[in-house]
Amino acid sequence: MRVLVCVLLSCFATLAQASDEALQRFTQLNSDPVLREQAYAAGQERIRFCGNCHGENGNSKRPYIPNLAEQNPVYLFNAFEMFASGERQDFIMSKLAPNLTLEDRVNVAIYFGQQKLLAHTEPVDATLRQQGEVTFKTICTGCHGVNAEGREITPRLAGQPAEYLRKALTRFRDQDPSRAGSVMMSIAADFSDEQIAGLAEYLQQLQP
Ligand code: HEC
Ligand code: HEC
Repeated sequence: MRVLVCVLLSCFATLAQASDEALQRFTQLNSDPVLREQAYAAGQERIRFCGNCHGENGNSKRPYIPNLAEQNPVYLFNAFEMFASGERQDFIMSKLAPNLTLEDRVNVAIYFGQQKLLAHTEPVDATLRQQGEVTFKTICTGCHGVNAEGREITPRLAGQPAEYLRKALTRFRDQDPSRAGSVMMSIAADFSDEQIAGLAEYLQQLQP
């Protein structure tokens, strides 16, 4: 347990540092209405290509692609940095992230942060959903927030497509190197497929 705590703390420290500059710039632009509007417009221009997959309004177009609407900006900055450094790997994102400047990342975060997450209307399996709720409330709320709204460096999970959540959790569970070093590896290590499916059902239908 002690080893786990140390690993978590050092991981948090590095992440917090990496996004400091972006966060400062974000706060500066986001708190001034005129600058925020300019950043929003620049972000909208920059995301044309991203919209093909993540949706122009940040609601993803495919169930295996994550939503970016209302995602926590600190998490977005960290994700860009992890893709750019190779710590997190994805066929497309690893190529795109190194080309985003600090200004791009801030503009994109301001743009997506203002988009509204749309509710999922697909029917859910009530038993699985119930199991997922119990697991989530037991293990996950301390970091991801009571309503999975995300906190500080942890991402919002509420409203993400179930398929993306299942894929992400399965890869953490299987210690897939595409997200090596993630705190989620040890958290998901003992999960069954059924537990993962329950969490995904529960989180997808959570209203933001
Ligand atoms: C061809 C499809 C595609 C395009 C275009 C694309 N993405 Fe992605 N993006 C993905 C996929 C797939 C993932 C999930 C990767 C994974 O599973 O780790 C992802 C993940 C992300 C994440 C991490 C989200 C999370 O919840 O962890 C961010 C942030 C992101 N993309 C931003 C962008 C931005 C900004 C652009 C435009 C510059 C962009 N993406 C363009 C497919 C795409
Ligand atoms: C110790 C804090 C902590 C706990 C507890 C925790 N998480 Fe996480 N989780 C994180 C952090 C930090 C990230 C983002 C960095 C990363 O990719 O590892 C994350 C990322 C994720 C992601 C990837 C999201 C995305 O958009 O790609 C999923 C899914 C997730 N967590 C689900 C869960 C679930 C379900 C639980 C409970 C079973 C849980 N987490 C418990 C800290 C935590």
